[in-house]
Amino acid sequence: MSSDSPVKIERRGAVGILTIDRESRLNSLSRETLLALGRLGGELVADPCVRAIVVTGAGTKAFCAGADLKERKGMSPDEIRAQIGLYRSELGVLDRSPKPVVAAVNGLALGGGLELAMVCDLRVAAAHAVMGLPETGLAIIPAAGGTQRLGRLVGEGRAKEMLLLGRRLSAAEALAWGLVNRICPEGADLLDDTIGWIEPIAQGAPIAQAAALRAVAASFELPLERGLEAEALYYDATLRSQDRGEALCAFEQKRKPLFRGE
Ligand code: COA
Repeated sequence: MSSDSPVKIERRGAVGILTIDRESRLNSLSRETLLALGRLGGELVADPCVRAIVVTGAGTKAFCAGADLKERKGMSPDEIRAQIGLYRSELGVLDRSPKPVVAAVNGLALGGGLELAMVCDLRVAAAHAVMGLPETGLAIIPAAGGTQRLGRLVGEGRAKEMLLLGRRLSAAEALAWGLVNRICPEGADLLDDTIGWIEPIAQGAPIAQAAALRAVAASFELPLERGLEAEALYYDATLRSQDRGEALCAFEQKRKPLFRGE
């Protein structure tokens, strides 16, 4: 990886961390940034030592201020369409990840920045974080899944309030609306807090976690009867895993299980 990559990759134990490193542009999403997120996200997904992925932004001001509006200004409509395709393909690597992906929202998450956070399975926010989808105020709409994912998290009425009024939520409001799962306690380091909070994932059974993620995704895509069939199929994948046997042995022996993802 070249040192001027817009995304830094690091590993802390079983957790892989992607940090958007463009503080001077509030960690906004340029073409290169999207490509780096896809490439490095793929690297972490493929790394058998990585059990969970955390996505964050450099500094404390912004998680990500959305599309790089300076880059965007010079783009033709066709170039913008191609860029929208990159949101799908590159952020899709994180979206489809069988390993849980967690956003550590270290500040402003606007537009594509909030959409990136919503691609993740869980969100931890710094107490000063602010979240919103200002796109209609820019005469466009969110194009990285915002119109599809926001309502699932906060409900239709609240999603429309954010989309149409440009309503920005504080971390406390986002927690109350279910847009984030947790607020980092005052004085704690957000990344340390996030990694500590997701320890059950890092120590957990990867096959079961991947199956749970796919089953939950199916619940939004399929009618209930088909969803229940899908759940039975995903359950079967856990039934065949060695980790399931290990969980039962550990229970009998009154010790913590050691899951290998096999
Ligand atoms: N793309 C590119 N650069 C951006 C950016 C973006 N989305 N958001 C901020 N920046 C840049 C600013 O241009 C500025 O750089 P400069 O000093 O070289 O001009 C730097 O980041 C700091 O931003 P600034 O606007 O000075 O900070 P602020 O605290 O006054 O305001 C925001 C912060 C986030 C409210 C404001 O920057 C903003 O509205 N950004 C656009 C957010 C947005 O609409 N995103 C959705 C896009 S669809």
